[in-house]
Amino acid sequence: MTFLHQYPKAAKVAKANFIVAFIALAIGGLFGFIQALHRTDVFRGFFNSGEYYTLLTGHGVLLALIFTTFFIAGLFVWGVTRSLDREPENMTFTWSWFWLMTIGLIMTAVTILGGLVPDSSIRAAVLYTFYPPLQAHPAFYIGLALVIVASWMAGADWFWSYNKWRKNHPDERIPILTFMALFTMMMWYVCTIGVAVEVVGLLIPWSLGWVTEIEPLLPRTLFWYFGHAVVYFWLLPAYYVWYAILPKLSGGRLFSDAMTRIVFVIFLLLSTPVGYHHQYADPGISVGFKFYAMATTMLLLLPSLMTLFTVVASMEHGARQRGGKGYLKWIGKLPWDSPAFVGCALAGIMFAAGGFSGMINASMNINLLIHNTIWVPGHFHLTVGTAVALTFMAISYWLIPQLTGRKLKFKTLALIQPYAWFLGMTLMSNAMHRAGLAGVPRRTAEPQYSGFEFEPIFGTMAEMDWQIAIGGTILTISLILFLWVITASWMGGEKSDRPVDDYIPEPLSGAEHTPKILDNMKLWFALAIILVLLAYSFPLWEMISDGIFEPGALPR
Ligand code: HEM
Ligand code: CU
Repeated sequence: MTFLHQYPKAAKVAKANFIVAFIALAIGGLFGFIQALHRTDVFRGFFNSGEYYTLLTGHGVLLALIFTTFFIAGLFVWGVTRSLDREPENMTFTWSWFWLMTIGLIMTAVTILGGLVPDSSIRAAVLYTFYPPLQAHPAFYIGLALVIVASWMAGADWFWSYNKWRKNHPDERIPILTFMALFTMMMWYVCTIGVAVEVVGLLIPWSLGWVTEIEPLLPRTLFWYFGHAVVYFWLLPAYYVWYAILPKLSGGRLFSDAMTRIVFVIFLLLSTPVGYHHQYADPGISVGFKFYAMATTMLLLLPSLMTLFTVVASMEHGARQRGGKGYLKWIGKLPWDSPAFVGCALAGIMFAAGGFSGMINASMNINLLIHNTIWVPGHFHLTVGTAVALTFMAISYWLIPQLTGRKLKFKTLALIQPYAWFLGMTLMSNAMHRAGLAGVPRRTAEPQYSGFEFEPIFGTMAEMDWQIAIGGTILTISLILFLWVITASWMGGEKSDRPVDDYIPEPLSGAEHTPKILDNMKLWFALAIILVLLAYSFPLWEMISDGIFEPGALPR
């Protein structure tokens, strides 16, 4: 029996979420392809500068905000249902958050795409960071607000299931798949308050014309209050897969239950009070608070290094179960012919590289060297663009069969896909990092920096631009392979009662060795709030004390 037969209602919800996620991935990916080509003189003619920003907004919103959120919702529905062994409590409620989120997404997407219609007044070329002075049609912000509210409801749905389960299991530890989902959602509640206040309190009134002036610093600060934690909202579900499923795919078991819980607790505590590291160059925030944010950001390396240790130890255990020997030779015994495993493993390797460039971004002084250059997209295509996106694609090869009751088709194409993504991203991201060091800005529709076409381009900016274009093309091919394999398997894969081996073994060191205090959600949630208040109350007070909409206000 597979998930579909055991929990048919939850399977339907998870599938609906995955369909929306994959459509967003397809459209957003297409825009990425156009952006990458746009960096060469040869393919620049198709879209003008105004349209470039429409596409760039669509790319960022559809991939970083929509693809991720819907995929995560599907993944958590799967994990919470399975680990608590109960279907969602009330299907009307469950479907209502799904549809609310979808309506919000459609409103947002339509306002963005309106920018491609000549003379349309419905526009939202405000990029996925959407803070002033760029202004969008009100429907863009209202759509975003609906998505956020719906995601809160989704979280409430999982807490609801957990509370019901708790009544019948008063003394048991929170099952690990539910633990990770609930801690991720607690972090999401803490951080989305900032963006909700920004959108509802400032941007919607401003876009409707109820207020005409707006201070730039306050909405930026509220956005970045959310904007770093959101990266952990994307990343923790990838960790979810690496902790819960990857050890099994490697042929072994999770190394330590305790390490897993500790890591999620640290992320809940430290993800939010770090937002100023996106504002090192902003005037109006005292340097001491920026320093505090730098310190907490650097502390966040700790749970990621712990993850590296635990996940690699689990993989090594798996490889040794499969007959692996030696200090490093065991790596060869890992299942390098399994698409789900390969995608997760390569995603993890790229994440390590993303961690290094992230340390540079986080350093107050070196940050100035790369601030707002194309280095930054170089960095986050390794993190969200690969560690997260490639993990999500890879684990779909394992999840979708469980949800549809059909076997995966075209295994060879599925296996080529993650390797192609790795290759394309190596080219694109490396060139972006190099170009950024040379001072090339990000988010520019006019990217030409030196001669093109018939001149030798090696060693010039044009060479890096071409590498971005070629890397982007390989990525697009990889994306098409993914969508093709998934669609074909979903529609026409061979039907089976057990299309994949979905058994997940117990950890090597189980919950009985894990301190009980780690499961105390109220305690950790309260501590998270205190850390946020320490970081944000004084600077926010300085910003609003002279009037909330007062433009240009600086601390005295
Ligand atoms: C920006 C290409 C996949 C998220 C960019 C840029 C390029 C690009 C060239 C820089 C544009 C500029 O600064 O002017 C691609 C290609 C992809 C891909 C070819 C694969 C086919 C992804 C994925 C994600 C992602 C999977 C996230 C899940 C972003 C974000 C931005 C961006 C958030 C920044 C947008 C902004 O600055 O407002 N992409 N990308 N991309 N990409 Fe991608
Ligand atoms: Cu950040």
